[in-house]
Formats: sequence, C-alpha cells, structure tokens
Amino acid sequence: MRTRLSVLLMAAIVCLLSLSSCGKKVPASVPATIKNGMIELKTPPRAPGQVSALGLKCDPIDTVRIAFVGVGGRGTSAVSRYTHIDGVKIVAFCDLKQERLDICQNILKEAGLPEADNYLGPEAYKELCDRNDIDLVYIATDWVVHVPISLYALEHGHHVACEVPMMMTIDDCWKLVDACERTRRHCMMLENCCYDFFEMSALNMAQQGLFGEVYHVEGAYIHFLSEGWDRSETWRLDYNMENRGDNYPTHGLGPIAQVLNIHRGDKMDYLVAMDTPSYNGKVAAKKFRDADYCKDGDHTISLIQTEKKKLIEVQHNVYAYRPYTRMYQLTGTEGFANKYPQEGISVKGINGHTYVSQEVMDSLLTAYRPAFAKAIEEKAKTVGGHGGMDYIMDYRLIYCLRNGLPLDEDVYDAAEWSAVQELSRISLENNSMPVRFPDFTRGEWNVVDGFHYAL
Ligand SMILES: NC(=O)c1ccc[n+]([C@@H]2O[C@H](COP(=O)([O-])OP(=O)(O)OC[C@H]3O[C@@H](n4cnc5c(N)ncnc54)[C@H](O)[C@@H]3O)[C@@H](O)[C@H]2O)c1
Repeated sequence: MRTRLSVLLMAAIVCLLSLSSCGKKVPASVPATIKNGMIELKTPPRAPGQVSALGLKCDPIDTVRIAFVGVGGRGTSAVSRYTHIDGVKIVAFCDLKQERLDICQNILKEAGLPEADNYLGPEAYKELCDRNDIDLVYIATDWVVHVPISLYALEHGHHVACEVPMMMTIDDCWKLVDACERTRRHCMMLENCCYDFFEMSALNMAQQGLFGEVYHVEGAYIHFLSEGWDRSETWRLDYNMENRGDNYPTHGLGPIAQVLNIHRGDKMDYLVAMDTPSYNGKVAAKKFRDADYCKDGDHTISLIQTEKKKLIEVQHNVYAYRPYTRMYQLTGTEGFANKYPQEGISVKGINGHTYVSQEVMDSLLTAYRPAFAKAIEEKAKTVGGHGGMDYIMDYRLIYCLRNGLPLDEDVYDAAEWSAVQELSRISLENNSMPVRFPDFTRGEWNVVDGFHYAL
C-alpha cells in the first residue's frame, strides 16, 4: 500500500515538474501548449479545395471600382489620394457618422468627380459588399472591426485592402489566410512604410548585395500619441488599456521583413518579448477614462529569430516624450543602413567607422531607387501622404490589380506582421518564454525566391 502511494506521489511530482514540457495549456486565440520550453500554437489544417495564395494572380481589371469603409482621419486622406490615381472609380463610402460621409462627398465634388453612394451604420458594410459592381473594398476603420469586414468582403467576391494592423489575433490571421486561399481574392494589409523612399532604396541595395549578408534588422513604432487620445483614435487607448503587447508592430516590421525575404526563402521561427510597466499609459488611462490601469507596457521589445538564424528586433512605444522613429536599421556583413534618427549608409571599402558622406548617400539612394518609384516620385511627393509613400502604395496596389499581377504585400505578410501583437502578449504573460511563430504558408515559406515587385 505504502509502495503504491509513493509511486503515485512520484508520478504526480514528475508530471508537475515536467508540466512545461508535457503540454501545459496556454491562453491564446488558438490552441497553444508548452513543449520543450517553447510555446507552440496549433496550425489548423487547410480545408479541402483550398490552395496556397502565394503569387496569387487575378484577372486584370480595367477600371478598379473602389468602396471605402471607415472614412475617419486615415480613410478620408486615402479618398483624397485616390482622386489623383488613374484607372479607378470611387463608388461608395461607409462610416458610422454622416459627417464623415459628407467630407468624402465634398472631396469628390472638389475633384470634379461624380457623387458616390453612402452607407451609414455599423453593419452597413454588409449591404455595400452585397453589391456586385465593386472590385476593391478599402478598409480604414479602427482595429477591432478590420477582420469581420474583410471576411465579409472576401466572401462576397471583392478584393480587400485594409489598414494596419489588419488582424489582432492569431485566430483572425488564420481566418483571413483561409478566406483568401478559398476565395482567390487579394487580401492586402496597407503597410505604407514599405514604400518610403529610403526603405525602397535600402531594400534594393540589400538585394544587390551592397550590405553583404544582412543578419540583423531593427524596426519600431515609437510615436508620442498618448496625450492626444481625447481628440483622435480614442479607440486606441481603449485597446491598449485592455491588451498587453506590441499593439502596432507592422510599420516597424514590414520593411525589414521584406529585406529578410520572410516567407520567400526564410521565415520567422520564434519570438521572445519583454516590456516595461505602464507609466504614461496609466496617466492617459486616468486622464481620459478615469481608470487605474493600462495593460500595455510603455515600452515593448520583441526579438524574433528566423529559420536562417537572422535576428529581427521590433519595438513599440506610443507614450514617450521622444521623437518619432521607426528605427529601420539593417546590419550586414559588408554594410549598414540606418534611417532614424538620421539617415546613414556605411559600406565596406568606402568607410568602416562612420557613414558615407551625404553626397555619396544621396547618389546611392537615387541610384538604387526602384524604377517605378523614380517614375512617380514627383507626383507622389505632390499628392503626399506621409511624404509620398502612401501614394506609392496606392499606385502599386492599383497597378497590380489593373495588370493582373500579384500584389507586393500578400495575405501571408499581413498575417505574419500582424501576428506579433498576440505572440508578444503570449510571451510576456509567460515570463518572456519563446513562442513559435505560426507558418501561415503551411510549409511553403521556401517556395518563392526572394521579395520582388511584380512589374
Ligand atoms: N498607415 C498609416 O500610416 C496609418 C496612420 C493612421 C492610422 N492608421 C490606421 O488606420 C485605421 C483608422 O485609423 P484612423 O486614425 O483613421 O481612425 P479614426 O477613428 O479617425 O477613423 C476610423 C473610422 O472608422 C469608422 N468606423 C468604425 N467602425 C465602422 C464600421 N463598422 N463601419 C464603417 N465605419 C466604421 C469610424 O466612424 C471612423 O470614422 C486604423 O487601423 C489605424 O491603425 C494607419
């Protein structure tokens, strides 16, 4: 009897000790367990008949008919930009507020364009998507409704372009990947920072080998926003109060992921996150919501190791009294590129300890700027949108749709870049334990040979 009891006791102790390696459940939006010191998330099986959307091409569209859903600050600036783009027709606007629809109609009027149809209310996007004279639904609502609207639009046969971050959970990432693979419609996250001039030139330099083997890349979203949350993006404070983690990872991550050819020859393998307590976040929560908590730490850092053992670092801080930065640093065996706080290029043979001169850097940036960007640079800078990068993003989206080409940013990019939100939260809630990155391509991350703009 005593022997049986001690055997049972031993078994219980062994199970407790090895809980971390024998499948302890972790709260996440998809089933997650701990195995060998790593949090692993379950990959849902691909449904029968659903095929990869890598390099997805659709029939060319002569005139792209666009409906805008969510025309607040960001949506209305998109509407303005689209009045300057050839080959599009703006057919509808949808928002919660009549005044936002009126602003958009006024933009059309001033541009001498015909009135578009209005849709008003939280579910009005459904009526809009039920139409069959729309090619592209362009979504610029707040974060939490991105996925239901995108799903509805895809399922109703429309291409989708959606603001950042497109998805807020891993479950949502899979839903959109699956919907895109099933419907064969494009599903793009509008990551405009991939189209900034320095980033496009530096990407090309990296691709041409100017920096040697690029092995460490850094990106960030550090932008002092929290004092303005009574005036704009008030939903952002609510989200940050309730959610710990890097809640806005894609501006920092998108451009550096392109440099490392993520899901085009390499993939993000696992992530480890650390954060600070909430300081100024709590001040904002108290000031604007009379609340005593903010789950988002003021500064969050996520480190990601890729399959090829490269390092990605992403930071988030929307609370600090410091200048805006997306960092954008690329370190290679033969060179270095640095965008913030001051642009700089350093390459083997020209220099080792300092940057090349401004003159040399300017000529390098111009020489390596992609031809399509050079051709529209002047117009992009005139139309604007973060100095022109927004216009270039819109131009590329429409160019690809009109020519039946794969988009620059596909649904796997949207999922991978957005996933850092929940993955960082999971790591933080488990003492910075590593979390395995889902492979949204389901094993096909090495099929495409590097990132390229389709031309
Ligand atoms: N890429 C960038 O540089 C950049 C810059 C700013 C904001 N953003 C992103 O753009 C999005 C919008 O941000 P914003 O600053 O314009 O916010 P905002 O609050 O100014 O605008 C959001 C709009 O969406 C509308 N809306 C909400 N739910 C809706 C629904 N169910 N149907 C129709 N309309 C709905 C709201 O009424 C509002 O007008 C966010 O995802 C944000 O992260 C991106």
